Amino acid sequence: MNRKIHSIISVVCLIVLVACNNNDLTNPGTEKYFPQVKTIIENHCASCHNSSGSWAGRPVSFDDDAAIAMQYQLIKAAVADPISPTNRRMPQDGMLTADEIDIIVKWFDKGGKISD
Ligand code: HEC
Repeated sequence: MNRKIHSIISVVCLIVLVACNNNDLTNPGTEKYFPQVKTIIENHCASCHNSSGSWAGRPVSFDDDAAIAMQYQLIKAAVADPISPTNRRMPQDGMLTADEIDIIVKWFDKGGKISD
């Protein structure tokens, strides 16, 4: 009798363990990219793309979180899509690393919002 209860408890514990573990490993939707995207924009884009100073009135400005999220499609296009007469490669004064481009594309794929 005691033995049986023991084995039932063991099985239950095992199921709980596997279930929790599984949850942690196979839930790719939990990673948040926006904070990293924001850092990339601040370091590589905002010096040119802001709505004050000599850059006021330029095609795009990334002044705050809302402005960045609103232009997620343009940002992804400018760093990752093929270059064309209407799609210029950014940043204009250099290159992002492959990792930085990857983060922007993942953020775009997830939805391109502040919460993504
Ligand atoms: C050295 C200045 C500079 C930096 C840094 C820069 N840009 Fe630009 N960007 C420009 C200029 C100038 C234009 C206008 C292009 C034109 O009229 O030829 C532009 C245009 C754009 C456009 C409008 C669409 C287009 O293709 O013309 C987007 C979107 C853009 N930039 C995104 C970015 C992003 C994202 C970054 C950072 C990864 C960035 N830019 C960094 C100068 C810069």
